[in-house]
Amino acid sequence: MNVVDVEQLTKVYQPRMRKGGIVALDNVSLSIEQREIFGLLGPNGAGKTTLFKVLLSICRPTTGSVMIHGMPPADPRSRRKVGFLPENHRFPDHLTGRGLISLTGRFHGMTGTQIDERVDYLLDLVDMAKWGYTPIRKYSKGMAQRIGLAQAMVPNPDLLLLDEPTDGVDPVGKVELRKVFERVRDEGKTVILNSHLLSEVESVADRVAILQRGKVLKVGSIDELTSRRSQYEIEAEIGNRLFDIPEDIGKRVSVSANRLIVELNDPENVNWIIDAMRSKRISIRSVKPMKMTLEQSFVEAVTEPQEKSS
Ligand SMILES: Nc1ncnc2c1ncn2[C@@H]1O[C@H](COP(=O)(O)OP(=O)(O)OP(=O)(O)O)[C@@H](O)[C@H]1O
Ligand SMILES: [Mg+2]
Repeated sequence: MNVVDVEQLTKVYQPRMRKGGIVALDNVSLSIEQREIFGLLGPNGAGKTTLFKVLLSICRPTTGSVMIHGMPPADPRSRRKVGFLPENHRFPDHLTGRGLISLTGRFHGMTGTQIDERVDYLLDLVDMAKWGYTPIRKYSKGMAQRIGLAQAMVPNPDLLLLDEPTDGVDPVGKVELRKVFERVRDEGKTVILNSHLLSEVESVADRVAILQRGKVLKVGSIDELTSRRSQYEIEAEIGNRLFDIPEDIGKRVSVSANRLIVELNDPENVNWIIDAMRSKRISIRSVKPMKMTLEQSFVEAVTEPQEKSS
């Protein structure tokens, strides 16, 4: 069973407004499996937070269906094993870090001993043990994010929904948080993180969905989203030996004395190129599919004509 199943989900805010309201999610379908870090990536207003709100039953879908652990969000049992870190959260700032985690534990009906154990474990996990007795109002933004992550993990959730979790965290802190996400994933849990920062998602997510104006433009592993299937980089001792590439095979993108980049009509055609080079006694050092950055993939997705989605 998938941890999250979203099928043809549409969410329209204020549907009675002129022009039919605000379409925050538009026919979104996604399946998220156990033991993965799933990045929901999209610019401001793409609908990322709205998707979390629907999963948590903070707002209801207009049409479509959503399941968490096989239960609809309307069933409170669907949230029992879900942890949530809201975006721009404001926890009561007179509380200390320990106080916030304890209070969350009490909301979850945990006993005093269970809470004490959990507080120590979680403060350690997010590297905030030193600051446990300091009031939240004295925390930096990065510290507040870490304590927020700790409180989201109080019920030992199987699914963590993190809305912009690294917002305001410095680069070292980001690397540490990334390790926490990976540790949680390696314990068999699922992490969904929302971000508008490509580089952050790129470095941690196993799979990514690119969302824009409520629509899913692309879903896949970072590898899938960043490979240019048809372009290959061939390192070889070409020197000034040239050979023609027939049109039905592909075309040359660039060539230098030791590097050829080709765009092929079919990935299989790479064999033709290799054979042609070898017949000219060109020694080949490596053949690599070309990669693009997630940013390039994202830009490509958002600028492609979207006739499919209408
Ligand atoms: N309660 C609401 N009432 C009306 N419109 C809303 C409401 N909440 C969100 N919206 C609109 O829905 C769209 C999606 O918003 P959402 O907050 O889900 O985007 P987001 O991807 O989380 O953006 P950000 O990166 O800025 O957090 C936006 O156009 C937003 O203005
Ligand atoms: Mg948001």
